[in-house]
Amino acid sequence: MSDAIDPDRASACPFHGSAGGSLPATPAGCPVSRRAAEFDPFEDGYQQDPPEYVRWAREQEPVFYSPKLGYWVVTRYEDIKAIFRDNLTFSPSIALEKITPTGPEANEVLASYGYAMNRTLVNEDEPAHMPRRRALMDPFTPAALAHHEPMVRRLAREYVDRFIDDGKADLVDQMLWEVPLTVALHFLGVPEEDMDTLRKYSIAHTVNTWGRPKPEEQVEVAHAVGKFWQFAGKVLDKMRQDPDGSGWMQYGIRKQKELPEVVTDSYLHSMMMAGIVAAHETTANAAANAMKLLLSHPEAWRDICDDPGLIPNAVEECLRHNGSVAAWRRLATRDVTVGGVDMPAGSKLLIVTSSANHDEQQFADADLFDIRRENASDQLTFGYGSHQCMGKNLARMEMQIFLEEFARRLPHMRLAEQRFTYVPNTSFRGPEHLLVEWDPALNPERSDASVLQPRAAVRVGEPSAHSLSRPVVVTSVSFAGTDIVHVKLASPDGRALPRWTPGSHIDVECGNTGISRQYSLCGDPDNAGTFEIAVLREPQGRGGSEWLHNTVKPGALLRIRGPRNHFRLDETAKKVVLIAGGIGITPISAMARRAKVLGLDYVVHFSGRTRASMALLGELTALHGERMQVYVSDEGRRNDFSALPVDEGTQVYACGPARMLDALQQASASWPDDALKVEHFESTAGTLDPDKEHAFEVELKDSGLVVMVPADQTLLNALRQANVDVQSDCEEGLCGSCEVRVLAGEVDHRDVVLTKGERQLNTRMMTCCSRAKGTKLVLEL
Ligand code: FES
Repeated sequence: MSDAIDPDRASACPFHGSAGGSLPATPAGCPVSRRAAEFDPFEDGYQQDPPEYVRWAREQEPVFYSPKLGYWVVTRYEDIKAIFRDNLTFSPSIALEKITPTGPEANEVLASYGYAMNRTLVNEDEPAHMPRRRALMDPFTPAALAHHEPMVRRLAREYVDRFIDDGKADLVDQMLWEVPLTVALHFLGVPEEDMDTLRKYSIAHTVNTWGRPKPEEQVEVAHAVGKFWQFAGKVLDKMRQDPDGSGWMQYGIRKQKELPEVVTDSYLHSMMMAGIVAAHETTANAAANAMKLLLSHPEAWRDICDDPGLIPNAVEECLRHNGSVAAWRRLATRDVTVGGVDMPAGSKLLIVTSSANHDEQQFADADLFDIRRENASDQLTFGYGSHQCMGKNLARMEMQIFLEEFARRLPHMRLAEQRFTYVPNTSFRGPEHLLVEWDPALNPERSDASVLQPRAAVRVGEPSAHSLSRPVVVTSVSFAGTDIVHVKLASPDGRALPRWTPGSHIDVECGNTGISRQYSLCGDPDNAGTFEIAVLREPQGRGGSEWLHNTVKPGALLRIRGPRNHFRLDETAKKVVLIAGGIGITPISAMARRAKVLGLDYVVHFSGRTRASMALLGELTALHGERMQVYVSDEGRRNDFSALPVDEGTQVYACGPARMLDALQQASASWPDDALKVEHFESTAGTLDPDKEHAFEVELKDSGLVVMVPADQTLLNALRQANVDVQSDCEEGLCGSCEVRVLAGEVDHRDVVLTKGERQLNTRMMTCCSRAKGTKLVLEL
């Protein structure tokens, strides 16, 4: 690597040349810090908890050179995502290179088996990679994966049957290793045989590539890898006899006929071996890590046992908090700067994705294990961009099914006393054993056969925030104005409720009606024990407020989602104008309270038909005194928005009836761009009418894909069908969670999230409702 160093740039470092004597140094001759010098990913500290092991780096020295490894180590989310995004500058070619080079004897052994592992999808450069990926990706789409679900469920059921009456199990040995292996074999189209041998081969391959085997072990590992290679070749030959089979390899064999230059013989052989490892081991480890994590957090485990709807997001949070892929590798193809650190062409990078997944800049309270975390699926355990794991949705499906099976049949399972051990390597990570125990007399299925009823199909792909509900209990219901009730909610088990900020709302599920309504929080954000909402009875509405008024009594249990905030107060604003009409006072009241606490220059304009119909009026007047302007139409006083003084630096927040918001929109034409922020609870702007739409093409820059969006489909759904993860929640253009960055093409914005100025910039769009004005968009995805 030192051959490639640019001497001019190396000498630009103020420390260059000062690392004399035995002090460790970077290839450019700069000294490394003590902690960087000590970094050793084969140590127990890294094996037990990689993100904790590099916490110091994430916080103080996010990119450092490891002399022991000969790699630059990258630990922060943004840096790692940028590396994944640019696979020309950061070549994946070393992703499968042996991190500890083998000795001549082991190499001879490998050669004796004709071992010729070639490039695979994981470590291949462009321009060869993307044509192959495109040719081979159809079997991974959610639609194609759905037909594997019954097989995964059957296997999960059969394996749990084997030990459920024992009262104890090693989940790794007795289920989590073998089931993903069997699923992997089915997916690939490999006959179910030689499972034990395969297991050994698979471990050997991990140690051979990512581990540090001792010289005497290297030979043994080399024999296992050689046999694995030969086995893969034999199975592939068998498959060629049956090219109509249903597996991914048979699909590859058929593609080879169509595109012989793209899908070559050596490629298929290498993919056969790599595919078994990729589809099996990462999922087995991820499932074991997830169960370990959930059982170590009994409240989270209880929550998913009580509400299996939380499982898809819990899977995502497990992958984030403790995924099965701790780090990946890349090779710098030119001189680059990563996280402010210059490194020369030829530098090798260890990108610690597990550390990125604990980066506070990306994940608030990152060390907290929170199965309701809304951006959990931003995790980088599957990688990102054009080399992102193609099997991610198969892994998600398996993990969801395993957790469902355990949560239904063994909710009383707990971790047994044990010390966890890991196969030492830099990248793949999962406990070698996972001992659990339970009282079989308490198995739910002994008294309730419905536990074994068939389950609803899993949603293949990234979870929707829509499923993240929590129970709350009504602690008080009081009168707050004509036809308005003021409801206080708390956690049924006394746990603190999530923190919230003014402008947040919660979604209340109205019993079994299938209706869910959004209500802004109106209490004190500093009161962590209580949520407060005020609900106006709307006889002409869709039934939510009627249900609440008629049903909700102290002691009633409700399910809510959120809180979520699409209506955030800019706490740095020079002046804040808060405008409420009728029940729209709820978010405005919380914002006004916050503005007062912060000492901002603020004013509240509150309009209503009669004083009796204006919720919280007395409380607000007492709290805000002269800053409160009240307009009661029955008393002949109305607000004239065109007379409001709104200059640069003033932020106007408004919530109220549509007529009031329309009048404000008109008045805002003469205000500075983006001065007006409006809270919406309904939107019809995104409703799709195929007769009025046109199809368009979307180029995904990071993934190297082109997706067609037909006239009768949203961009969000087209992306999902192409296996591209995009978060979503409301799917009505209200919440902002499906936002993506736009690189080119003009957007037809239909959401109510972006301001006028943000729309004009044309750099962001909501994929659930917005479309292309022309025939093409380029997105940063
Ligand atoms: Fe809410 Fe698109 S999912 S704006």
